[in-house]
Amino acid sequence: MLNTAIIGGTGIYNPDALEERRDILQETQYGAVAITVGSYKGMELAFIPRHGAKHSVPPHLVNYRANILALYQLGVRNILATAAVGSLNYEFKPGHFVLVDQFLDFTKSRPSSFYEGGEQGVVHCDMTVPYCPSLRSALMEAAASLNYQVSNGGVYVCTEGPRFETAAEISVFKLLGGDVVGMTSVPEVCLARELGICYATVATITNFAAGISPNILTHSEVYEVMKNNTAAVRQLLLESTLLISAQETRCDCARILEEVKVKL
Ligand code: HPA
Repeated sequence: MLNTAIIGGTGIYNPDALEERRDILQETQYGAVAITVGSYKGMELAFIPRHGAKHSVPPHLVNYRANILALYQLGVRNILATAAVGSLNYEFKPGHFVLVDQFLDFTKSRPSSFYEGGEQGVVHCDMTVPYCPSLRSALMEAAASLNYQVSNGGVYVCTEGPRFETAAEISVFKLLGGDVVGMTSVPEVCLARELGICYATVATITNFAAGISPNILTHSEVYEVMKNNTAAVRQLLLESTLLISAQETRCDCARILEEVKVKL
């Protein structure tokens, strides 16, 4: 049964770890989505590279609604996502993994809800705990068994991009309590929550953020650090998918649907 998906961010494009792979094109009202479905140790998984297989889609133009709805239509109720992030926190150094537990939203121009009034209705979705605690504990358990150092908790500041931030922006984000900065978690996490899907993100620190790093920021630096950590991130995600179904559900993610009658 397919109920878990991986959304790969920067540096995570390759579904080769999955066996018996097949590529499908899932139609949604927001557009068609190319998805690879396969299995890992008998567990059926779906995979979407967020930026496209060749990293051709920038963060502000990702079709987040199509991706999340397509997975929902296939039966997916758990999503593990990856993200490359800059660090605002000296304890989170390049190469370190963080399971973020909160976000601050500084995006500007992205469709960020399935519910746009009219037939779809007006929905104010609870976002108290956006990243699923049950999925995070599966990830922590997998990290312990693999002997990986992973920090459980951190505030993800989501910027619009595609430019990096100014030093002044980063100072403000730090004052506000941000730990890491990236360009993709919002609205992805919000859309998953609107459909009652459990969602967690493994953030890989690729650099210190603007003004904290002594250097200018480059995408190749981000990409290089991700490349060095791809195998570890992939292993962490795959092993934790095996623990998800075994986890007793201690989250409220699916309760969102008690109020929101999905008509999508
Ligand atoms: N800022 C925004 N997004 C990022 C960064 C950053 O410093 N590093 C990786 N993704």
